[in-house]
Amino acid sequence: MRTLDRDVVIIGAGPSGLTAAYELRKAGKTVAVLEARDRVGGRTWSEDMDGATIEIGGQWISPDQTGLYSLIEELGIETFERYKQGSSIYMSEDGTRTVYDGADFPVGEATVAEMNKLVAEMDRLTAQVDPDAPWNHPRAAELDMVSFHHWLRTLSDDEVACNNVGLFIAGGMLTKPAHTFSALQALLMSSSAGSFSNLVDEDFILDRRIVGTMQGVSIAVAKRLGDDVFLNNPVLKLDWSDSGVTAHGTDITVNAAKVIIAVPPNLYSRISYNPPLPRRQHVTHQHQSMGLVIKVHAVYETPFWREEGLSGTCFGPSAIVQELYDNTYHGETTGTLVGFISDLQADAMFELPEAERKDVILKGIAEYLGPKALEAKVFYLSDFGSEEWTRGAYATSYDLGGLFRFGPEQNKNVGPIYFSSSDLAGEGYQHVDGAVRMGRRTAARIVAAVDGTQDDLDYDGVASRFGTLSNL
Ligand code: FDA
Repeated sequence: MRTLDRDVVIIGAGPSGLTAAYELRKAGKTVAVLEARDRVGGRTWSEDMDGATIEIGGQWISPDQTGLYSLIEELGIETFERYKQGSSIYMSEDGTRTVYDGADFPVGEATVAEMNKLVAEMDRLTAQVDPDAPWNHPRAAELDMVSFHHWLRTLSDDEVACNNVGLFIAGGMLTKPAHTFSALQALLMSSSAGSFSNLVDEDFILDRRIVGTMQGVSIAVAKRLGDDVFLNNPVLKLDWSDSGVTAHGTDITVNAAKVIIAVPPNLYSRISYNPPLPRRQHVTHQHQSMGLVIKVHAVYETPFWREEGLSGTCFGPSAIVQELYDNTYHGETTGTLVGFISDLQADAMFELPEAERKDVILKGIAEYLGPKALEAKVFYLSDFGSEEWTRGAYATSYDLGGLFRFGPEQNKNVGPIYFSSSDLAGEGYQHVDGAVRMGRRTAARIVAAVDGTQDDLDYDGVASRFGTLSNL
């Protein structure tokens, strides 16, 4: 067992923890990052599978994600555009397959009008919501009392329109059924992306990817931190007082003035706190839970759908694979599809024996793209729900009523203990961009506190002191 003395100890080497450590180091602070896994990157992770680059976790970047863009620019990392040429496919509830172009789903005129009405209402309210403090919206309490599912139905009695619009937040983002989270939580999701229209526009939200993969960003930051990143060191015990902390890893113990817990909130209770955290934190953390989604990867000899004039983009709000995209990596000649199976559908898939699961999923893809889709040479399912150090995907969100009641607590430090992760971000919430923004913001707060330029800053104080939040 080695004992180290540092200014700040960071628990978790995902994008948020690594960015925080990197910023602290640049500010002249000493750091140690303790990571549970045998790799960095957390929910970003890539592997070569039979010559194809597979991004098992986070991968896409949208134009508004300027926190992440500024980091990769600093690191000298480039991006490439997702393949977007060709027509899309829509699978209706009765299994009818329609090839279409443009942004509107090929549903009846009346349903398109209802969908546009719902999108307009989401955009109108989203514009009023501060992603850093959605609980301050004048109607926050009321909007947090009603499920997104039921709220949509108060605005429209067109079931198909409600399901199609609901999908973008429920299956598509929070990966929970729309009846389990509130309208306010849905508005936080859309305000974190600038608007609901941004979120429903796959060409915007799934715009570009990283040359060298998204995990490569964390690997590049970790390289700059060198020997200060310690893998295979889960922290299960944290002693703390106003004068500092001691974090206990497997073979490293770190004494520091401050700690950043850069793990998703559903894992905070894996750590035993001595003394216990205040009551409010204990309760708050129990209302933040992970969604569940299976990311499906299927690699083919060629991107055969392109020859048929198809983009590979397919939507089926009630299909097994609800979303499908061409995910061929930069410069590869094989064709890769990525699909998503969310919440209740994911439960159903995990009930099946492995071989049957593969069969059902490939048949689901073939319903969109024809029988060639059955001939995948690589078939892999990302299963972060089984990963001890994540336990779900993509990220955490509050249960009904939780965001208004507990949200204001989530970014407050407890003495020397600070929390940082994409789950706590406003802009970039649930995304790597949010992880980076939170890492920078938390580092800035700690520098101010340690240097005595200001006492431990409250959350609002940080915003005014360090300029507009979009710069953090
Ligand atoms: P993250 O979870 O990444 O890192 C936390 C780290 O803490 C992990 O390395 C973990 O092992 C470690 N840890 C946990 N407990 C510990 C303990 N007790 N001691 C020590 N270490 C501990 N985003 C995006 O921008 N574009 C996208 O396309 C996608 N797509 C996507 C797909 C899938 C399948 C997933 C799972 C996620 C995404 N995301 C995404 C989300 C994105 O990956 C996510 O928001 C960020 O990785 C979060 O970064 P953090 O650093 O906050 O947590």
